[in-house]
Amino acid sequence: MYVGRGHGKLILCGEHAVVYGHPALAMAVDRRTTVRLTPRPGPLEARGDIVDDRLIPALRTVLPPEGWLVDIGTDLPVGRGMGSSAALAVALIRAESASRGHAPSVDEVFERAFAVERVFHGNPSGLDHAVSARGGLLRYRRGPPPSFEPLPLPSWRLVVLDSGVAGDTKQLVAGVASRRPTVDADLDRIGELVLEATAALDDPQALGPLLTENHGLLRRIGVSTPQLDDLVALALKAGALGAKLAGAGGGGVVLALVEDPEPVLRAAAAAGVPAFPTRPVP
Ligand code: PMV
Repeated sequence: MYVGRGHGKLILCGEHAVVYGHPALAMAVDRRTTVRLTPRPGPLEARGDIVDDRLIPALRTVLPPEGWLVDIGTDLPVGRGMGSSAALAVALIRAESASRGHAPSVDEVFERAFAVERVFHGNPSGLDHAVSARGGLLRYRRGPPPSFEPLPLPSWRLVVLDSGVAGDTKQLVAGVASRRPTVDADLDRIGELVLEATAALDDPQALGPLLTENHGLLRRIGVSTPQLDDLVALALKAGALGAKLAGAGGGGVVLALVEDPEPVLRAAAAAGVPAFPTRPVP
């Protein structure tokens, strides 16, 4: 059996705008996807935690049509903007490389995982699987050529609040594309916010309001939902320094920047919202 792993991620600032060449800030989190490949006769088969019509076509970008059983395990909420498909792509490339006794470079994992992500997302910026492959906190700009700027890991914490609803990234990205050029000024402002947030990474009091402003812009470009807006309000009321939807939107998760996770976790529990603390990991 051959095993590969990929980190999940959260986008701190800059989703959607990153598709149009603006920078984005994203970080790997302490949850991940594991792929186990077992050689065996018969057609390619997948089982486990990710059930999706696009799964076999995605696996086929890396594996032959016959000869493998693919077991997929993840502790990421699936389809919630935490990079479960990107983590799958990275884990798959690593497992397939292991089956050939090959240790791929991070750049090779990034390049090959793009093909898998295209099956799931159509026109991905590459941000999700860049973070999954590299770990840590990154400022990313799509190519060609893509740029990756690793940043020091901050000490603040996040609380993730799960809407329980899966957003469809491909559809949401297409929706924003269809609202251009009306939304271009908002996308430009999101790009500026990423630069301001990068300068404020060590100062959570300054960073928080930038994240909340980012949420307002995501709402204006049409990717938030009333439920996500309510989760942002709940987190802020419970003392979060800032909060925003994270990922493509339409569902998925909200991230809340906190010095102490407890009050936001308590408020989420009282409202019946699944929530958990997380932090950036190398
Ligand atoms: O896959 P998600 O839901 O984390 O969203 C990806 C982020 C987008 O900027 C919306 C799309 C992209 O390809 O960067």
